[in-house]
Amino acid sequence: MTALFTFHDNDALGVVRAVDTASVVVGVDNLELLRKMQVNRLVVLQSSKAGQFLIGIVQRIVRDAPTAKELEQEEETGEAHIAERNTVKVTLIGTFVERDGSKTNLFRRTLESVPEIDAFCFSLEGDLLTRFMRVVSHQSDSTASRLSLGSYALDSHAEAYLNANRFFQRHAAIVGSTGSGKSWTTARLVEQIAELPNGNAILFDIHAEYRTLTGDGIRHFRIAGTSDLETGKGLDDGVIYLPYWLLAYDDMVAMLVDRDDNNAPNQAMLMSRAVVAAKQKYLEDGTHAEILANFTIDSPVPYELKLVHDEIEAKNIEMVPGAHAGAEKQGDFYGKLSRLVARMENRTSDRKLGFMFRAPAETKEYGWLERFAKRLMAGTRDQSDAKGGVKIVDFSEVPSDVLPLIVSRIASIVFSVAQWTNSNERHPIAMLCDEAHLYVPERSTSAGILASALGTFHRIAKEGRKYGVGLVIISQRPSEVSRTVLSQCNNFVALRLTNAEDQSVVQRMLPDNLGGLAGLLPILDTGEALVVGDACLLPARIRISEPRSKPDSGTVAFWDRWAIDEPCDKIANAVQSWRKQST
Ligand SMILES: Nc1ncnc2c1ncn2[C@@H]1O[C@H](COP(=O)(O)OP(=O)(O)O)[C@@H](O)[C@H]1O
Ligand SMILES: [Mg+2]
Repeated sequence: MTALFTFHDNDALGVVRAVDTASVVVGVDNLELLRKMQVNRLVVLQSSKAGQFLIGIVQRIVRDAPTAKELEQEEETGEAHIAERNTVKVTLIGTFVERDGSKTNLFRRTLESVPEIDAFCFSLEGDLLTRFMRVVSHQSDSTASRLSLGSYALDSHAEAYLNANRFFQRHAAIVGSTGSGKSWTTARLVEQIAELPNGNAILFDIHAEYRTLTGDGIRHFRIAGTSDLETGKGLDDGVIYLPYWLLAYDDMVAMLVDRDDNNAPNQAMLMSRAVVAAKQKYLEDGTHAEILANFTIDSPVPYELKLVHDEIEAKNIEMVPGAHAGAEKQGDFYGKLSRLVARMENRTSDRKLGFMFRAPAETKEYGWLERFAKRLMAGTRDQSDAKGGVKIVDFSEVPSDVLPLIVSRIASIVFSVAQWTNSNERHPIAMLCDEAHLYVPERSTSAGILASALGTFHRIAKEGRKYGVGLVIISQRPSEVSRTVLSQCNNFVALRLTNAEDQSVVQRMLPDNLGGLAGLLPILDTGEALVVGDACLLPARIRISEPRSKPDSGTVAFWDRWAIDEPCDKIANAVQSWRKQST
């Protein structure tokens, strides 16, 4: 093995003047060398231990010339020349070890020693930097667990790898302003998962951007839109219905009961009774006695919504025996449930919610949930056609007010099934949540639909690792994504971020001594990212390589379209579709 670092003392930039716990100040006498220094570049420092070097990152460069006053004094007193005090402040980020047992050339993120005063400091650049970066990236454990993002900005020849196990195990976030390259980065992750023989991931595609991604490892689904209703299409055609009976009771209440109604608690109570009764009937009719003994209102058991509706309507007009024999009086809820009944009828007849309330009959079959969960959660090898471990679910037709409910419901089905799987039988799954600020928002005060979606994601963020469920949170507004969830993300791919609040979210993730790197965030180029976390040895600026198939951002080129001299009026059709509630 040849040593990586063979420095000569006279190549040194300067010598250590001051030492702190994790930073040093290097005095640089040669003004030429000082001018060549740049913030965020790497340097190597001699360590007090043989065979070790300390690696640091330049934080601050100061040229401290004598002040006018000092020069004046010098002249007055005729004393010797006061030297310039040019310094470079360096944050120590790790140790390079030439040999440890049988291993050679290792980089570790720990400081196993500190430099001594007068130790030499060398610049890490050119060919040497390339070779060092290779050491850093190649040793990311085994070849198999490498995730390739692109190349280092410091050195475009050195490929940047992340430790893929850690990246997905301990949740990750991809953040960046609109147009900074999040979707392309996501596509790059997805295509690498899809290439594995038994990859397993779900991508929540909110704007149908990822339709263009193809390959045997990828399968596309869409939540049924108005034009899918009554076509008889189902899971095998890539159409997902999420029948109302799969909603948690709280979600159902959030959907159907108006919380501002002062009768809301009674309405919710009546609904819960009616739902339990309807589920019970389903189980009794189907002779599933083993389930009957232990089922709760949230058990995933189908039921007839019509029974619930009829029961509530009956209560609304119920007459009960009065005080006098033969006389009748109005029941406790007489006339108080009219609004609930009307709301139920409105919601259930809304074609835009057809994926919930107009699901085909097969979704009420007892075995349907199993087929559904399998399509969604099985890796490539366990799919019936041994394809499509990465499932891209298109939510573009889901109305935005119920989006959080539907995304979180799918996430929660995945999590529940993972929880109920024997620990030695779990096949890990990653959920990639694009536009996460829409359904995992920071505003925790919001009640109803959002609150329950948040609860689901909080639980997965905190406990997912135990059950082999990893999250990748993707957002243009990290400051609007739930803190609780982001704080559980151990890896950040931060693309360009222009907003100060968003920057501070990433800043918080940086190790204390590297907070300065956050200064890069607003000036990153498109497709360039600052990657930090336990999946990479060094926080690094990485130029993300293009994915093979590019996401379709669907951006309309206004000006170009306006420049086409042709009629393109489709408004009459749109109005017609609106009336028909179907395109
Ligand atoms: N890694 C990259 N290399 C080169 N160009 C990129 C890269 N990532 C993104 N771009 C460019 O930026 C545009 C926006 O990227 P996109 O991923 O859709 O951004 P976002 O999802 O953050 O809004 C793309 O259409 C592409 O032209
Ligand atoms: Mg995007």
